[in-house]
Amino acid sequence: MDAETTTGFIELDDVEKVFDVRRKTGFMRGERHRVRAVDSISFRVARGEMVGYIGPNGAGKSTTIKMLTGILTPSGGRLRVAGIDPSRERTRLAHRIGVVFGQRTTLWWDLPLRDSYRLMHRMYRIPDARYRENLDRCVELLDLGELLDVPVRQLSLGQRMRGDIAAALLHDPEVLYLDEPTIGLDVVSKSRVRGFLRDLNAERGTTVLLTTHDLTDIEQLCKRVMVIDHGRLMYDGALAGLHEVGESERTLVVDLERQLPPIRLESAPSVRTVKVEGPRQWLAFPASESAAPLVARIAADYPLVDLSVREPDIEAVIAKMYESATGM
Ligand SMILES: Nc1ncnc2c1ncn2[C@@H]1O[C@H](COP(=O)(O)OP(=O)(O)OP(=O)(O)O)[C@@H](O)[C@H]1O
Ligand SMILES: [Mg+2]
Repeated sequence: MDAETTTGFIELDDVEKVFDVRRKTGFMRGERHRVRAVDSISFRVARGEMVGYIGPNGAGKSTTIKMLTGILTPSGGRLRVAGIDPSRERTRLAHRIGVVFGQRTTLWWDLPLRDSYRLMHRMYRIPDARYRENLDRCVELLDLGELLDVPVRQLSLGQRMRGDIAAALLHDPEVLYLDEPTIGLDVVSKSRVRGFLRDLNAERGTTVLLTTHDLTDIEQLCKRVMVIDHGRLMYDGALAGLHEVGESERTLVVDLERQLPPIRLESAPSVRTVKVEGPRQWLAFPASESAAPLVARIAADYPLVDLSVREPDIEAVIAKMYESATGM
């Protein structure tokens, strides 16, 4: 077993990135101040993992990814990807990683996709057979066939993004960083991209670190999610575990025989009736509590016709978490 497998394929120990910025405060006057974009972050990602990296705007996600590719040098701490220090050996690392920045393209603006890919073929010295195989696979699964001869600047955002994802994968990278790969994509393209990433991870064991503001990406792709805010790691674990941290609530939707005043259960103070609409009532209760005793109590005291339990909305849970972090 090599060192990578026992430690982590991606390793961060107290990594920091501080930007020195000058803010103009008046004519000829400026103020130097420091932005701690990444503040002492530590984590490990094992080979083959698919991890979500989420957080509000300005949290430090892109900065982290830039350090992982070697574009930015950390101000402090230790960082390794496949045993390589990215900022010191950026070129050597480039052969082993792929990166997609949803906000901008790595393709040549004036060239058709096909020519961009040919350039990468040479740049990365990809063996011919391998190149053709990877290209064919991407063209098929990302539906690029019709687009290969179109200059990049004429592609729509979603088309270009698919083109970018293919470009990041032609050289068989072991790890893929995706910084908002589904931004601006329509529902069909999103689902195609997600399916493609899932297969890539399952079949090739590609390690994926994914940044997104679309939580459905995370729900559908990542068993593990890390939440970052103000440069700090706030959570690292299963997506489902966020519910507990976020103190989320589930909702019991109750249909009664007729319209009645809001349900009140003396014996269950943590339950709140949040809405009444005719014979239907909505009751919120802590997600950590079981619904069964609650249902039994309502059934005993009220003319119950039907009911259902709604799971907490992950968006709401995360929004709550961001808010509480800001209030610190
Ligand atoms: N080159 C830079 N110079 C100065 N400050 C920077 C630079 N790059 C990023 N920052 C600052 O660092 C912080 C983190 O930015 P970053 O781009 O990593 O956020 P993000 O989590 O990717 O946000 P978003 O969701 O909006 O993409 C922000 O406060 C940003 O203004
Ligand atoms: Mg960003």
